[in-house]
Amino acid sequence: MHIHKFERFWIKLSFVVIAFFIATVVYGFVVMDLKVIGASETLDPQNLGGTPFDNPGVREVTKNGVTEYEVYVQTIQFAFIPGTSEPITVPANAKVTFYITSPDVLHGFEVAGTNLNTMTIPGQVARFTTIFPEPASYGIVCNEYCGPAHHVMEGKINVVPQSEFDENYLVQ
Ligand code: CUA
Repeated sequence: MHIHKFERFWIKLSFVVIAFFIATVVYGFVVMDLKVIGASETLDPQNLGGTPFDNPGVREVTKNGVTEYEVYVQTIQFAFIPGTSEPITVPANAKVTFYITSPDVLHGFEVAGTNLNTMTIPGQVARFTTIFPEPASYGIVCNEYCGPAHHVMEGKINVVPQSEFDENYLVQ
């Protein structure tokens, strides 16, 4: 079968483009170490009583002899609890795992200036683990439209030196 040289050219080009798209995905996951945020746990969004989200905030935990931190956050119309009326304070250079859920509608939880970004879905727990290398302050924004005051839904994360955290912020 004869294929015209221009047609042959475009067929080849389409394969190159497909290979390029696949390569960008592989590059993202392998080289840039991007992760899909886990949302394996589910709960009843109408009834957070008896779950850690009932008393949201930062907890210190010890896993295999290593101290790390868990942060439970509720996203509501139109605030992060904690995060909005009081900042989320965590120590620098420590492993921090966020657990975030929403009792009302879909929200977003994006830590501005980082690659930390998740949807928060009623009934599901978004979870990611990170280390903030140095003391700094980060804004949190809701990037999913969630109602008339969506645009003012924001919060703050304060990353402080471990010693300062131990002195002032450690809660049980
Ligand atoms: Cu919450 Cu937009």
